[in-house]
Amino acid sequence: MIVRTPPMGWNSWNTFGHDISDELIRKTADIMVSEGYLDAGYNYLVIDDCWQEPERGADGRLVPDRKKFPNGMKPVADYVHSKGLKFGIYSCAGTLTCEGFPASYEHEFTDAATFADWGVDFLKYDYCFKPIGFDGPTLYRRMGMALASCGRDILFYGCSWGADETRKWIKSAGAHMWRATGDLVDSVGSIKEHAKMFEQSVKYSSTGSFADLDMLTVGMYGKGNVGVGGCDDLIYKTHFSFWAMTNSPLFIGADIRNIKKEAKDILLNREVIAINQDPGCWQPYEIGTKGGWNPSSIPCYVKMLEGGEIALGIFNFSEEDCKISTPLDRIGLSMGTGKTLEMREVWTGETETATNGVHKTFVPAHDCKLYRCRIVDIKYGV
Ligand code: GLA
Repeated sequence: MIVRTPPMGWNSWNTFGHDISDELIRKTADIMVSEGYLDAGYNYLVIDDCWQEPERGADGRLVPDRKKFPNGMKPVADYVHSKGLKFGIYSCAGTLTCEGFPASYEHEFTDAATFADWGVDFLKYDYCFKPIGFDGPTLYRRMGMALASCGRDILFYGCSWGADETRKWIKSAGAHMWRATGDLVDSVGSIKEHAKMFEQSVKYSSTGSFADLDMLTVGMYGKGNVGVGGCDDLIYKTHFSFWAMTNSPLFIGADIRNIKKEAKDILLNREVIAINQDPGCWQPYEIGTKGGWNPSSIPCYVKMLEGGEIALGIFNFSEEDCKISTPLDRIGLSMGTGKTLEMREVWTGETETATNGVHKTFVPAHDCKLYRCRIVDIKYGV
């Protein structure tokens, strides 16, 4: 099995767009190891679009941009592997990539063979310039077959933005992860919108085929390719917690060569990552809070963890500070079970409990609470 828990890594697109090079990738690989990202689980280093020459070679194969990657791609992959990381690359199901470079339509098997030769471990497969008369399932299944038969384990990331009801067919193409949404940009509005859109995909996400909310913008602060407005550390914390809680893959999009300590601490929070990477891989479920999903509402997800614990996430994407009441019977623990929760908020380390079957907490605007809970006996009269 190529992947059991949500894949993690770094991707060049959010910050660098076209501005990628052999040197950038090697330096990023160094930092992923020396600064503890690999140890925390971020093991895929992925080059996104814009790595190609505008034309295929005489042999029909894709050619890496000669200025950006003067030694070709294999030495880059070898270097990434030498650091203990896995190497990822990008192509597209259409006639061109989203940035107009040659893509894999009707070259699927040749490209899969090329990627295998270079030592690629991960393919992000986009959905631009779809040829007329072809549908998504056909195009993605073709590449799925090409990868599965290329002789190398290559993780398949179907990046069709949730379009054409991706969630309903992408698993039939063998995708290990698949984009449930359009592109995320570095703004509060975009993060909120993605969290909202995710509700329709979450029940299709499963072990070995995870719904992806797009690369993280944590630590970008408005800089780089999808910089836009930028966010503050509070919303980055909530963004990261939501992605982690809902089993989204976690791909860093910031420039980790120069990242603020606060953002790095968010990305490397082991307890939050452990909820995302829980080996049980249970599906998260939404339990609904005040008002359901509307602009001032607060999504609340629960996820059972291996070993009998439970994670609970309350995400205040609204502009108002809120007091949130969560009756435990919404989670499945009515008082009649004789059980309640002992709750540890993983960002603060503080402990909270429920009283008379209801947990109450205060969540400031843009903040979140993320708990790891133990199921314990209700102690009457204490
Ligand atoms: C699409 C994808 C992005 C990125 C760009 C590259 O928009 O959704 O994640 O890969 O293409 O062109």
